[in-house]
Amino acid sequence: MNLQDASVTRRRYQRLSLLYDFMEILPERFYYPWRQRLWSQVRGQNLLDAGVGTGKNMIFYPKGLNVTGVDLTPGMLKRARKRAANLKIDVDLQLGDVQALEFPDNYFDTVVATFVFCSVPDPVLGLREIHRIVKPNGQVLLLEHVRSCNAVLGKLMNLANSIVVRMTGANINRDTVENVRRSGLVIDHVENLGVGNIYKFIVAHA
Ligand SMILES: C[S@@+](CC[C@H](N)C(=O)[O-])C[C@H]1O[C@@H](n2cnc3c(N)ncnc32)[C@H](O)[C@@H]1O
Repeated sequence: MNLQDASVTRRRYQRLSLLYDFMEILPERFYYPWRQRLWSQVRGQNLLDAGVGTGKNMIFYPKGLNVTGVDLTPGMLKRARKRAANLKIDVDLQLGDVQALEFPDNYFDTVVATFVFCSVPDPVLGLREIHRIVKPNGQVLLLEHVRSCNAVLGKLMNLANSIVVRMTGANINRDTVENVRRSGLVIDHVENLGVGNIYKFIVAHA
């Protein structure tokens, strides 16, 4: 793992943490039903929200389950803690790097990550960690934006990526479906969301 990369990512999200919810007001109109759908498919008692951010998934956490949220960035976690307190949601929020997690093997029934693997410095390493900690009969549910398969748009995304990643922490030219495959997770379902083949709902298992 490139620790320097992780500190760069953390610094970017730390800087954004105060503005993050405001910046996401418009996109969240699209994301809300996608999140709702993802969380309706969660199974089991022990869940991880990897890269929990400011806790935008919290309103969808099923009641009565054990949910843990992990994030790299203290500022994002601080806002997640505030949201959990306001919503009276019982969630164990921890600082951590999805590329090197402290959970034992085969620990979670479901791992969720929404808009996270665009920013994890080594996404395949992070997805391998998810593979390690999800139970063999468990599932991995991801919402991600990826590089467009449209040749022109894809090239534009490549060109713009170095600026966008500096400003927002997110790489816009990743092939996260391929990264999931490379991690050893088995993909059950990939669905395009919205327009332009950019947003994906990925269902996988160990
Ligand atoms: C775009 S935000 C998404 C937050 C939240 N999942 C959501 O849906 O709003 C990306 C989050 O991933 C976190 N992140 C990036 N790299 C990470 C890593 N290596 N380990 C854990 N969290 C990471 C960032 O700190 C940030 O909070």
